[in-house]
Amino acid sequence: MKDFIAGLPKCELHLHIEGTLEPELKFELAARNGIDLPYASAEEMRAAYSFDSLPSFLTVYYESMRVLRTEPDFYDLAMAYLRKAAEQNVRYAEIFFDPQAHTGRGVPFDVVIRGLRRALMDAEARLGVRAQLIMCFLRDFQAEYAMATLLESLPYKEWIAGVGLDSDEKGNPPAKFAEVYARAREEGYLLTMHCDVDQDDAAEHIRQAIEDIGVDRIDHGVNILEDQRLVELVLARGMGLTCCPISNGFVTDSMKAEGIRKLMDLGVRVTINSDDPAYFDGYVQENLVALQEALQLSEEELAGLERNAFEVTWLPRPVKDAYL
Ligand code: HPA
Ligand code: ZN
Repeated sequence: MKDFIAGLPKCELHLHIEGTLEPELKFELAARNGIDLPYASAEEMRAAYSFDSLPSFLTVYYESMRVLRTEPDFYDLAMAYLRKAAEQNVRYAEIFFDPQAHTGRGVPFDVVIRGLRRALMDAEARLGVRAQLIMCFLRDFQAEYAMATLLESLPYKEWIAGVGLDSDEKGNPPAKFAEVYARAREEGYLLTMHCDVDQDDAAEHIRQAIEDIGVDRIDHGVNILEDQRLVELVLARGMGLTCCPISNGFVTDSMKAEGIRKLMDLGVRVTINSDDPAYFDGYVQENLVALQEALQLSEEELAGLERNAFEVTWLPRPVKDAYL
């Protein structure tokens, strides 16, 4: 079954590029930029990772970004992921980036996006992996800061497929960003946002995302199962959910495999993704293998999950059709 999964053409729709920063690259970039790291080696750093909630992960995630400073740093980060993606037979990826996590510490927006963009262009030409960027706002900062970031992105609009919302969800509901999302839509961006697994008020957050904001997709979103009306809305709109089983196992009590099974049985367009693979120790291949083992998925079901992902991509129709 592992070989079948390895051979399957894949599509990744929930991947934070900063979450692909492997300890080895972190050391390389730290050396390049003259930054000290509090560990003697990559192995030691990896061994110290210990996450049992979203905030405990986010602390390490943001702290690690100190090593990313220059355009070549962002290029190398994205290129390392895209090489890994090519090895795993990922044909297309929509990649989140968190500009505020960089501009907030003095790295200019254009440094971040130019490095990422150049890697995407090179990967398409050299590796045959196509990818687009999704710009995420940090929901634990003010909406005004997100709006300023949206405006800052406009000169690069052609390089950004859409916007997302991530970071700590507690006390930061979708409604907080209604104005920012309305403006993003006016500017032609497609819309997604994290509705993380088992957060406080999870079902209400999903309701706001769908009904009040009108998102095109939901990141995670397994908690639609708490409310039949939400399931019906998602089905009626044909919305995709970008689920991340291994990540779920780190930030909640389980991979939520049974929930994912239920969603599949209901006909929801579930997709399987890796979220922050350098921290949760699993790229998309490992996520599919873990889910297959938990649910005894058939080859048809696995192929169906990838088909769902290609169907809900933000590629223009004729390009998308070529993958289906
Ligand atoms: N959830 C919320 N914020 C994040 C995540 C996540 O899984 N990964 C990176 N930022
Ligand atoms: Zn995520």
